[in-house]
Amino acid sequence: MSDTPTLQLAANENPSGMPPAAREAAAQALAGSDRYPDPAGVRLRAALSARLGVHAEAIVLGSGSSEILTLAAHAFVAPGEKVVSSQYGFIVYAQAAKLAHARHEVVAARDFGHDLGAMRAAIDADTRLVFVANPNNPTGSFLGGGELLAFLEQVPAHAVVLLDEAYTEYLTPAQRYDSMGWVRRFPNLLVARTFSKAYGLAGLRVGYGVGQPALVARLNALRPRFNITTPALAAAAAALGDDEYQARSFALNFEGREQLTQGFAALGLRSLPSAGNFVMVEAGDAAGVHASLARQGIHVATLEPYGLPRWLRVSVGLPEQNARLLRALAAALHPAND
Ligand SMILES: Cc1ncc(COP(=O)(O)O)c(C=O)c1O
Repeated sequence: MSDTPTLQLAANENPSGMPPAAREAAAQALAGSDRYPDPAGVRLRAALSARLGVHAEAIVLGSGSSEILTLAAHAFVAPGEKVVSSQYGFIVYAQAAKLAHARHEVVAARDFGHDLGAMRAAIDADTRLVFVANPNNPTGSFLGGGELLAFLEQVPAHAVVLLDEAYTEYLTPAQRYDSMGWVRRFPNLLVARTFSKAYGLAGLRVGYGVGQPALVARLNALRPRFNITTPALAAAAAALGDDEYQARSFALNFEGREQLTQGFAALGLRSLPSAGNFVMVEAGDAAGVHASLARQGIHVATLEPYGLPRWLRVSVGLPEQNARLLRALAAALHPAND
């Protein structure tokens, strides 16, 4: 194992590396980094505005979309008021609720995904924020646009829906829906997206929220003034324009996800259909398998914090990386070969 490089498949990053144009833009921007960054991120917000077809005032930038999630809890939820999310929801939702001293109701999942009917029923007069991830991490579950729209139509105006679309770029054309159009219609909808996944900039920490200007202004009022660094702003704007990188990332992910799913099945392991850049696989003794993979130089995510101790989450890698993971997994399941 000694000179084989470590393979990181634990954090749902883009295995293609940073888009070259973004790397170059960040390097150039480093030269001006003796000064504070543009606090309004004017260039990046203008680029996002043009790309998404929404007004720049409808966009708030975050240090990763994680910051948008926590800002939303602070902006919309007073201590003691309620936050609703789904079982197996992204771990930051619980942290955000805790930071805001909110009551947090976790609604039981259905088929490892959101039960929107039960979530709607959990929204009471004190509920101020509802987290919905589509696709969901770590389960990979996906809600169709029709289902989501029907839910939005039912949520009362006093509760903000935070639609977390961290993995939206990995949706197939048939799965896509017009959440930007919904933002124009629903004053209580905030969509969160990130440059950490399909755009390959996880280490630079750039995400954003899109909502009607009045809603976004409430987040901006709490946002630290210089929350995005100059190189990160420049890299994100450059990455946004690299359609070729996006198309390649989508195709690599689509094929790699299939490669993993088929490989897991060939090993007799159950995995869940995923709409993201990762697959959840039932490994049985997940802690043991995780440790064996780590000894073989491969890091995947354990899901004990999500109450899924038998499962692992494997991020989709490049084809040869997926093949290496599957070989190592076979060895982990048959320790004599480990
Ligand atoms: C569902 C979901 N939302 C948000 C994020 C936050 O990502 P970032 O803060 O890097 O934008 C992640 C990261 O794993 C995620 O899985």
